[in-house]
Amino acid sequence: MSARTFVVTGASGGIGGAIAEALAARGHRLVLAGRDGARLAALAKKLPASADAVWVASDLTRADGRAALVTACADAGGVDGLVNVAGVGCFAAFERMDENAIADVVTANLTATMQLTRALLPQLLAKRGADLVNIGSTFGSLAFPGHAVYSASKFGIYGFSEALRREFADRGLCVHYLAPRATDTALNSAEVNALNGAMGNHSDSPAVVAQAVLAALDAGRSGRHYLGWPEKLFARLNLACPALIDKALAGKLALIRRHLP
Ligand SMILES: NC(=O)c1ccc[n+]([C@@H]2O[C@H](COP(=O)([O-])OP(=O)(O)OC[C@H]3O[C@@H](n4cnc5c(N)ncnc54)[C@H](OP(=O)(O)O)[C@@H]3O)[C@@H](O)[C@H]2O)c1
Repeated sequence: MSARTFVVTGASGGIGGAIAEALAARGHRLVLAGRDGARLAALAKKLPASADAVWVASDLTRADGRAALVTACADAGGVDGLVNVAGVGCFAAFERMDENAIADVVTANLTATMQLTRALLPQLLAKRGADLVNIGSTFGSLAFPGHAVYSASKFGIYGFSEALRREFADRGLCVHYLAPRATDTALNSAEVNALNGAMGNHSDSPAVVAQAVLAALDAGRSGRHYLGWPEKLFARLNLACPALIDKALAGKLALIRRHLP
């Protein structure tokens, strides 16, 4: 792949930072997005000069925050790829969540992602063979107790990616949906890490997710990618045979409840 320009949201975080580093190592140019300007500046500084990295600190749930990023991308000559990584975690008993908390998770994980994608579409479609990468989650195919709102937002990302893949199939836009399993980042609270430990769930490094993104881009075609074994099997099994997963998770419910904050 020759040098192209990618915008990576969530670049101030664990997975987004690793994806930015992996793309820069391939010689691509980068527009880095997040809210924490100090982290973005530190990342931009350690990337190779060939990345020509610019960064935009803004809140993507706000229209003015998205507009600032879209302008920076246009100023960079337009983007060949959008990697939607920004998101928030939410491990909570659904009955104890208030209206604002529910809206905040859906807005950050789903609505802002769709709004930003639409705003950047003209730039993507102006390039030949542009790439859209949406970071979902295992919980985007297998909804999990204690993660009702997070799962719903990630099922939304799954559906959004699938619809766009089909809607733009004849327009030269590759749409990649990539679902990491648990990954070692600040997104996971101490309770989530403790639950993963108790359930024997493996956690990947952000670099593993970044390499999977590169592999998806290298494939040169739209696709769905699930990370981790056995998570990728369970995610697909849940779509085909959800009653099996209902039964398996019913047996884990007491353990999950003990870890809920
Ligand atoms: N970690 C996991 O176990 C895991 C597993 C599967 C999927 N994922 C997904 O991977 C993605 C990245 O998560 P991560 O693990 O790397 O978490 P992270 O380290 O907490 O990073 C989250 C990133 O999202 C950005 N962000 C959040 N809300 C934002 C907003 N309103 N406006 C702009 N940026 C915002 C954060 O920016 P600031 O820090 O600058 O505010 C940060 O850069 C998420 O979509 C998550 O759902 C994570």
